[in-house]
Amino acid sequence: MNAPYNPGLLDQLQLRYAGGTAKMLIGGEWMEAASGETFETINPSTGKLIGHVASAGETDIDRAVAAARAAFEGPWAKVKPDERTRLLLKLAELIEANGEELALLETLDVGRPIQFSRMLDVQGAVSQLRYNAGWASKIMGETAEISAPGEWLSYVLREPIGVCAQIVPWNFPLVMAVGKLAPALAAGCTVVLKPAEQTPLSTLRLGELVMEAGFPEGVVNIVTGLGRTAGAALAAHRDVDKVAFTGSTVTGKAIIEASKTNFKRVQLELGGKSPTYIFADADLSKAIPAAAMGIFFNAGQVCAAGSRLFVHEAVADAVLEGVVAMAKGMKVGQTLDASTMIGPLVSAVQRERVTGYIASGRAQGASVLVGGEALSGEGYDGGYFVQPTVLLDTKPDMRVRKEEIFGPVLCAMRFGDDADIDALAGRGNETEFGLSASIYTSNISTAHKLARRLKAGTIRINGSGGVDPALPLGGFKASGWGRENGKAGIEAYTELKAVSVAL
Ligand code: NAI
Ligand code: MG
Repeated sequence: MNAPYNPGLLDQLQLRYAGGTAKMLIGGEWMEAASGETFETINPSTGKLIGHVASAGETDIDRAVAAARAAFEGPWAKVKPDERTRLLLKLAELIEANGEELALLETLDVGRPIQFSRMLDVQGAVSQLRYNAGWASKIMGETAEISAPGEWLSYVLREPIGVCAQIVPWNFPLVMAVGKLAPALAAGCTVVLKPAEQTPLSTLRLGELVMEAGFPEGVVNIVTGLGRTAGAALAAHRDVDKVAFTGSTVTGKAIIEASKTNFKRVQLELGGKSPTYIFADADLSKAIPAAAMGIFFNAGQVCAAGSRLFVHEAVADAVLEGVVAMAKGMKVGQTLDASTMIGPLVSAVQRERVTGYIASGRAQGASVLVGGEALSGEGYDGGYFVQPTVLLDTKPDMRVRKEEIFGPVLCAMRFGDDADIDALAGRGNETEFGLSASIYTSNISTAHKLARRLKAGTIRINGSGGVDPALPLGGFKASGWGRENGKAGIEAYTELKAVSVAL
């Protein structure tokens, strides 16, 4: 994962996107927007233009939905589960074979350090496909014994929902696109997928690989465009049967509103304000790096980021010292450098948003233990970098404690022996979100009691993994509706039909 990148391949990619307009995939054809409009995509490490991308409007969305509908009612409906498995596995192979190119694209467009693009985006996408490929032939209906008089045969069919809109954010474009596509395709749906306007490139390359794998035209359509135009048109479209969205809570509400046109099914994976607990009996050699990377990884642009730390007073000084040492010691900088740990934020807008939160924390009385500033000058090349930051002395009603910052900013709090499990769970549950939580303790009862009391979709105990294609992913409360991944993730692309025959 730490090998140097290939400069020849990088030049080739930069040349490819610098000239002309990157086209979108509709019904198996690559095309510009009907209006001819484009938008720019930027390299967040330098603030420089990478290239122009087709900006879809209503006409393009109509075309893409029509192509997905035609494929759903036509050729795709005849493709057997075994063939869907084969196609998904073929796509996994192609992603692996083109992994270095996809990793470089992700690094350029998103600003992710190359070592993580390789490990997370490429390997993550491959494993999503392999997991879901097997499901295609394992989707089962049921039979039921009903109580009506007479003799009956009653069975429940599980059918693909139909045409699915999938709207993806900019923090993990490739792995999230694949994580949405794979279960939809395994279940027999067709898709119109929209990447975020900040990060369209790896998804467009994915579209090429989808066609190379041999999926019939129209099964996967990729439309690039702005949220307020292309995204909104997709969410409101009357011929879309389901919309799956990952992103902000604000846009999640807009999607719910838009879905009312035809009561489409809605799946939402929204923000978080996830707690990490470190108890006095925790193994600090694991807990300290987990607390630090839980918030600094990907510059904090992670829905499940551990943005609130609750640490027992007996170990608080040691933990905070360790987190500060990591904040100061990790290399923040240019993302093509294989030793870089922390890259920039995705855009100038996000940098202003994050520094705005830090300023609001200071204004409301928080103190800055480490970091707290944007980074510029030598080594930062005009990119959107922010220092890993730890805030102390925050209160539950401060914006930095309640809202999703989506940057490398940790609020650290102490607790003492007077706080019992219920009180601690209450502090963890005090925000409107409920996506994830981490617990570090060597007492199994403490760990499991707290896990039961937390309102969070994902709980990690003494380790920072816990997100896997096999495990349901999603949130309680304002963190979303429904679950992705696992069996629930497949079933979320199906509709039930009860059939009863009087014999
Ligand atoms: P966003 O939620 O607006 O964007 C995510 C996706 O939704 C993009 O593809 C965008 O084009 C699309 N979109 C935007 N408006 C839409 C609309 N009205 N209808 C349909 N689609 C629409 O997020 P944004 O503005 O880029 O980031 C703002 C904040 O959102 C971040 O600071 C962070 O707090 C949160 N966020 C959370 C993510 C997560 O993984 N849970 C991912 C990205 C952002
Ligand atoms: Mg970009």
